Amino acid sequence: MTNIGNYEEKYKTFDWSQAREILGYKEGDFLNIGYYCSDRICEQGKGSKLALIWEGMDGTVKKYTFDDIRILSNTYAEYLKSIGIEKGDRVCLFMDKIPDLYISFLGILKLGAIAQPLFSAFGPESLVTRLENAETKVVLTTKKHAFKLRKIKDDLPALEKVVIVEGEPKKMEDYEVLFSLESADKVDKLESFAADLESPSVLHYTSGTTGQPKGALHVHSSIFSQHVTSKWVLDLKEDDVYWCTADPGWVTGTSYGIIGPWSLGVTQCVLDAGFTAERWYKFIADHKVTVWYSAPTAIRMLMKQGKEVVKKFDMSSLRHLCSVGEPLNAEAVIWSEEAYGLPFHDTFWQTETGAMVITNYPGMEIKPGSMGKPFPGIQATVLDLKTHEPVTEPGKVGLIALKPGWPSMFRAYWKKKDIYDSKFIKGWYVCGDRASIDKDGYYWFVGRDDDVINTGGHLVGPFEIESALLEHPAVAESAAVGKPDEINMEVVKAFVSLKPGNEPSDELELSIMNFIRKKLSPLAMPQEIEFVSSLPKTRSGKIMRRVLRAKEWGEEIGDTSTLVDDE
Ligand code: WT7
Repeated sequence: MTNIGNYEEKYKTFDWSQAREILGYKEGDFLNIGYYCSDRICEQGKGSKLALIWEGMDGTVKKYTFDDIRILSNTYAEYLKSIGIEKGDRVCLFMDKIPDLYISFLGILKLGAIAQPLFSAFGPESLVTRLENAETKVVLTTKKHAFKLRKIKDDLPALEKVVIVEGEPKKMEDYEVLFSLESADKVDKLESFAADLESPSVLHYTSGTTGQPKGALHVHSSIFSQHVTSKWVLDLKEDDVYWCTADPGWVTGTSYGIIGPWSLGVTQCVLDAGFTAERWYKFIADHKVTVWYSAPTAIRMLMKQGKEVVKKFDMSSLRHLCSVGEPLNAEAVIWSEEAYGLPFHDTFWQTETGAMVITNYPGMEIKPGSMGKPFPGIQATVLDLKTHEPVTEPGKVGLIALKPGWPSMFRAYWKKKDIYDSKFIKGWYVCGDRASIDKDGYYWFVGRDDDVINTGGHLVGPFEIESALLEHPAVAESAAVGKPDEINMEVVKAFVSLKPGNEPSDELELSIMNFIRKKLSPLAMPQEIEFVSSLPKTRSGKIMRRVLRAKEWGEEIGDTSTLVDDE
């Protein structure tokens, strides 16, 4: 029996007040995500149940009960308070997937501060834009990553402290402090901040076509969405061992790698190690994973390793599989059914939506290649590309749009009100993706409606890459676009024209690639650089990325007059 039961029935009868009931929240109750994910589970008598099974690169396994998570997150909250963190302050999490990341996330929320997770592979330039915009007060990091903050500290007047929670640098800067969860005095009792439904909780940065990344701000009541989607889409139950492969630097890793499962009191495991098919399968077998939430790029990498290797591991514990982040090809769904005896269920959502909005449900027929149907409580449509009226013809492509009002919807782009406002058209929130809806109500993803590059499920903004490219001494002008890639769907390709006195060469290509990798991140690094004498531009001088992109994809360039209209 699935948790959701009959989808059609649920879709017809559901309203968000039911999500509150399902979580056990009543009007006027105390609300705090940190409390709901630890203390409350303990109050339900599950304090000694395993909350986290963590496995490191070298195979070390650490286990934490809900009571451990409760006490250790209290300890973090108390420590942050002692160094001056107050309600509403931004505290950045910048570390690998170590236990401290999961625990301090809850600690920050218990204090009423705002958790700002940033992907640990980010370089100084990716960091500085996000920390500057958020006016982050404290960064929690590890020795391994602290050096990147040293490079940018002078540009961050609001940053008071960098707390190193693992390892000890030989020489400390005056703003650096050490904190060790192991040796800290444990805090058994803590009064969590009494959040209301609209109190800010998490700030996740996401990339757009123009300008620097935007911070999507979420609130404590997002938990209503995350709880009920975890229950009905991931189908999480009391005895499950759940594995979300996403990093909490991205929204999947917080909404479904912390909040959703723990608000249900479900045991989850984390693998903080690089990818190999064997390692992943062994992890599933060793910990008897039952529900697995992953991404198409990972699935394609597993497909590449073939079905034979699957047979070497006992993965009979698996019972439900879901995927997110990029289009899940029909072949991947069919392959997983053959390889694991279970299909991956595609789920569609965004940093901005905070929780799944269009998905395939356990028990509902999957049409391989489709993203499924809107979650109960989500009114979705596709809007005509020109008129922005809802499309009524089945199969016609439009812009995915959602009626605002579900609990986990972002409340702002941090200090970017105009961009936030521009996401709403005629009373709809427009996701920035194109899709069609078939006669049975299934959604089919077509592509993004902007120039954002989706590489391996991670969005990277062309503007951020182009700005960084211009800082390279040899680069005069540049354009970054996505080019097709067998595994990652898209990778970054940069078109570059050089300043006088520079000649194209393999060395220069490598030098530019490394320059971006170090400054921004490995994700943003162009996998190819094409040197050109000039870039296609509109009459007003704006670079026409779409012309370059179309060439990479072997598509018609189409109506370039629209590009002129974009000026
Ligand atoms: C963008 C959001 C929240 C999930 C992690 C990414 C693309 C997401 C799908 C899917 C096709 C998808 C869209 C979306 N995307 N899921 N199932 N099929 N595309 O969050 O970084 O905010 O990215 O990822 O383009 O707008 P994000």
